[in-house]
Amino acid sequence: MDKFVIYGQKPLSGTVEISGAKNAVLPMMTAALLTDGVTTINKVPDLRDTRTMVRLLEIVGAGVEFTNGTLTIDASTVNNLVAPYDLVKTMRASFYIMGPLLGRFGNVKVSMPGGCAWGPRPVDFHLMGMEKLGAEIELDQGYINASGPSLKGAKIKFKYPSVGATGNVVMAAVLANGMSIIENAAREPDIVQLCEMLNLMGAKISGLGTTILSIEGVKELKPTEITVIPDRIEAGTFLIAGAALGDITLNNVKVGHLQSVLDKLEECGASINVGEDKIHIIKANEIKPVNVTTNVYPGFPTDLQAQWIALMCSASGKSIIMDTVYHDRFSHVPELNRLGADITLHENVATIKGVTTLKGANVMSTDIRASASLILGGLMAEGRTDVSRIYHIDRGYERIENKFSALGGGIFRESE
Ligand code: UD1
Repeated sequence: MDKFVIYGQKPLSGTVEISGAKNAVLPMMTAALLTDGVTTINKVPDLRDTRTMVRLLEIVGAGVEFTNGTLTIDASTVNNLVAPYDLVKTMRASFYIMGPLLGRFGNVKVSMPGGCAWGPRPVDFHLMGMEKLGAEIELDQGYINASGPSLKGAKIKFKYPSVGATGNVVMAAVLANGMSIIENAAREPDIVQLCEMLNLMGAKISGLGTTILSIEGVKELKPTEITVIPDRIEAGTFLIAGAALGDITLNNVKVGHLQSVLDKLEECGASINVGEDKIHIIKANEIKPVNVTTNVYPGFPTDLQAQWIALMCSASGKSIIMDTVYHDRFSHVPELNRLGADITLHENVATIKGVTTLKGANVMSTDIRASASLILGGLMAEGRTDVSRIYHIDRGYERIENKFSALGGGIFRESE
């Protein structure tokens, strides 16, 4: 198993290229299954999660090539409508296979998902949406069997604007007979891009970027070519590193996707200049404590909560961070405290008292974003920090150690 060895408190400077968005590309890869042709997706990040999705597409029979960031997916050969436990348990986003296969073939069998090790992460909204479209759902030996040979458009209202459920149900509805309306839909840029891709394929979806999506079912979809949007969570992670330690420029960013994060970084005292697809950030002389409450887009993303807490560990006072999206996503807190942070946790609220300096220690990563937070903690800490179980970070960040070391960070991958 690999670990990162980090020698902290080195200033960061230079330019970093942000990769394509993991959370956008995963549903786009399954959307390719809605046609019987060859779809091309550019700027695909080379991650464990995208590799896992490639394997899943191959298991259902698609022909996939992944070279230099370009994926081609030939879905004309799909012949197996089962997504097995071994694969789905390693990545919750595998569940995105349900909507497209149900929509195109009328049935699918998907293992109940696993994924990140935090909290209960149910799929009830996904199943409710499929049922409204006319599918019959049955749970058998850990698998969900969904069958709906002739899906019909329906009105679907989510209790909460779930990203995954919105994407999955949209993909099932595009080939249904008639009109579907999804109320309280997710507005995350990843979902907007999925809908844009489906429209390029011939779907008729309107209301993109709003909480109400209207989907007029079409008979068939054709393949398309599309480039993945920049990863706003990777960008946010590097911006937070810049606010603590650097003078860095991020290339390939969509500034509008990061507004809530940029506002908070400015409140902290960082100096920020934005270009069309670039952001230049210079660290704050003194990091001011800034409270954050996570929320759905365009609110502050839960996927940056852990990294924000790492930044607040060095702030000049007390801050309060509340996660309203995932209430128990705080496995990084005890690990940051091992670095000398002063964080207390009550339910979904973390209170952080800034300390003069973090001190290196051995810590363990537990999920993708918690790992990013520990790397930030290690880069900010005095001395050496060893971060173990970094396979989590490889799920969602492309060569993060190379990107940080090119900026001057003292970070090295070693085999344990
Ligand atoms: C996606 C992201 C993840 C991010 C999250 C919230 C991907 C691959 N992952 O996850 O990085 O942290 O959005 O921005 O895009 N819920 C239910 N029932 C459901 C579905 C969700 O109760 O059927 C609840 C969840 O428990 C959670 C909330 O809704 O409290 C939001 O979850 P959701 O938006 O679905 O997250 P994911 O799509 O799993």
